[in-house]
Amino acid sequence: MAELIVALDYTDAEQALSTARTLQGTPLWMKVGLELFTHEGPAVVQALKHMGFRVMLDLKMFDIPNTVKGGIRSACRLGVDLVTVHTLGGERMIRAAAEAISESAAAGGAAPKLFGITILTSMSQGELPGYTQDLGTFAGDLAVSGKSWGLDGVVCSGHEVRSIKQRCPEILCLTPGIRPSSGTKDDQRRVMTPAEAVQAGSDYLVVGRPITKADSPAEAARAILAEMA
Ligand code: C5P
Repeated sequence: MAELIVALDYTDAEQALSTARTLQGTPLWMKVGLELFTHEGPAVVQALKHMGFRVMLDLKMFDIPNTVKGGIRSACRLGVDLVTVHTLGGERMIRAAAEAISESAAAGGAAPKLFGITILTSMSQGELPGYTQDLGTFAGDLAVSGKSWGLDGVVCSGHEVRSIKQRCPEILCLTPGIRPSSGTKDDQRRVMTPAEAVQAGSDYLVVGRPITKADSPAEAARAILAEMA
């Protein structure tokens, strides 16, 4: 059964937590990203955990292996449930991140799922410095390698899930760019409905504005969960 993750794209904890409060009691994950985490720090993550949500800490870490290992270790101490790194950081960086999680688990701490960004979907052909080949193929190659280095899954477009899972059936896929069958696309271009994403094999769906900007976020979330079922 796929899970629904709400992207809390706010600057202030007050706004983020007031939306989260209206969603309490619904089986959801919350995504804390760069904007909210940089402004509010660990306290907002702890507050969401106390409210009973599972938390995806989306900081897309990319640094030398030792530094990323330390960052993931800190995320484990925070008790988050899913963390993100850039797969382009390479084998040693991914292995170091996975090692931090195994060490935390062995010490009885949190063991968040480790997800890799392959190629940012905002990038188009020719934009990756020094690389002129097909980005979709490269993203697939990175997913397959990333899995063998210790990733649990990858962040990808719903349109890439089928081909990634064909090459690597055991990998988990997390897809943003989801829009309910009724409603606007905002600034997302290649969207998928919740049902289409689940049919394609996506394991986690990330949805922001269709829930956070709705008159009733709880109703919007329930409608999306129903579309997913
Ligand atoms: O509001 P919306 O549903 O478009 O939010 C989607 C979330 O997923 C945002 O937090 C956005 O940064 C993130 N995301 C995305 N596309 C990607 C990667 C992440 O929309 N390729």
